[in-house]
Amino acid sequence: MTSKTAQRLLIVSNRLPLRVVKEREGTWRLERGSGGLVTALAPVLRNRGGAWIGWPGVPAEKSSGNLSELMDKAGKDLGYRIVPVALSRREQRLFYEGFSNEVIWPLFHEFPSLAQFKPSYWDAYRSVNRKYAEIIASHSQSDHFIWIHDYQLMLVAQSLRDLGVQSHLAFFLHIPFPPLDVFLKLPWRLEVLRALLQYDLLGVQTARDRRNVIECFRALMPDVTWRGRGRVVVGQVNGRAVRVGDFPIAIDYRSFARRANAKEVLAVRDMIRAKLPDRKIILGVDRLDYTKGIPHRLEAYREALRRHPDLHGRTTLVQVVVPSRTGVPQYRRLRARIERLVGTINGEFTRPGWVPIHYIFRSLSPEELLGYYRAADIALITPLKDGMNLIAKEYCTTNVDNDGVLILSEFAGAASQLQNGAILVNPFHITEVADAIYFACTMPISERKRRMKKLRQVIRKQDIFWWVDSFLRSAFSKHLSEFPQLEEYMPLTSTS
Ligand code: UDP
Ligand code: G6P
Repeated sequence: MTSKTAQRLLIVSNRLPLRVVKEREGTWRLERGSGGLVTALAPVLRNRGGAWIGWPGVPAEKSSGNLSELMDKAGKDLGYRIVPVALSRREQRLFYEGFSNEVIWPLFHEFPSLAQFKPSYWDAYRSVNRKYAEIIASHSQSDHFIWIHDYQLMLVAQSLRDLGVQSHLAFFLHIPFPPLDVFLKLPWRLEVLRALLQYDLLGVQTARDRRNVIECFRALMPDVTWRGRGRVVVGQVNGRAVRVGDFPIAIDYRSFARRANAKEVLAVRDMIRAKLPDRKIILGVDRLDYTKGIPHRLEAYREALRRHPDLHGRTTLVQVVVPSRTGVPQYRRLRARIERLVGTINGEFTRPGWVPIHYIFRSLSPEELLGYYRAADIALITPLKDGMNLIAKEYCTTNVDNDGVLILSEFAGAASQLQNGAILVNPFHITEVADAIYFACTMPISERKRRMKKLRQVIRKQDIFWWVDSFLRSAFSKHLSEFPQLEEYMPLTSTS
């Protein structure tokens, strides 16, 4: 057992930052997560001691064998504890696929007609959030700081308070928070708001999300009084305060920029370019998700080809689709729709030596992904709604020659930071996106460089360490006198 002072930060997310891979029946292998969040939090967890609590991604019924041993060992190697939350197949179906991904995900991304408001989903969401809270409570002490992530776990603070946990609780929502008229459709809207009120700090991605949160609180919980202006505002009710602020999530800029020149990455880039010579390579990379706007994008590319025959044979759209949430019917249907459309468009335009759309349905290794970024002349990132969209930031960061172009949806959270260098488009406006594609294909190098430099500057300044730093500073600023030991969290950037 780690000592009291050595275990002060608990990170909780639905998924652990580890991938569990089955080797054979009862034998598992763990792969380390490589996302920005784990990169930024790992040094803080290592320096201060702590734990990461989450779901290993395999149903409890299957997770016998060497899994718990592996988790313990992974924790020792990483320098912080890994605490698995076991979810049964039924919980996975009703809590993860059901309430999280068939209710909150569509509703918060403003697709209310896709939401399946089933009471059984809500019951499972409440009980699994309670299960997380019980595990957190058994690993926490009053001076611990508990940071909970994302829409799957909105009720955890409420359950923790019910269990008598008084620790400082912060929450970050990685997806958008919807406007009032959309949020109102949620049958359990009051329960969700009441639970969110139990956090000390609520972080969201953008100023728009922050305004939406406050608007919902004002309309549905008039007892809360709000004060303050700017990025962090404070709500007060019954003697307790909740702060709401916007903190746009970021990437590890230095690591991406450095890896952009790795031998393996350059080999992938050169291979792609050799196979697609004298072409403008336009790249889309997305999880298979209806929020990403993949069919609209394919239609926009078709429109660009119809309007501009000079693009024929001179452009290729490489669309990478990463399989996701295969248990949810909407996702399965989307795959069929995308594949039909790719077939139709390729059928219309292909000629000897030129296939307009290269479609890849799998996840890429990190080197492959960076190789595709480096090979691409244009990144076409057109979600219909997205919390942030890290692909946009990763593409620009790895564009170390500053000669690429970013076409970005105005409905991606990243748009507010990247609006000065990107070509912003409305992804629903097919002809506007088609024109943006043509504009990007014909943009002179001087303008490309000017824009890309601006983009990379913003992404460099506001990197993942800046993000963790500003979130934790905000979380602690009021508590520093009560918890002097929390000062130790502050010099985050220098520990990274
Ligand atoms: N990514 C990945 N493998 C792939 C393609 C993408 O791990 O084959 C990563 C990518 O590096 C990025 C993340 O997936 O960090 C996607 O994040 P984003 O915010 O764009 O969208 P999300 O999938 O979280 O909705
Ligand atoms: C988004 C969500 C994350 C989620 C990820 C992958 O980024 O904000 O919470 O983990 O998608 O989705 P999955 O359902 O596979 O965890």
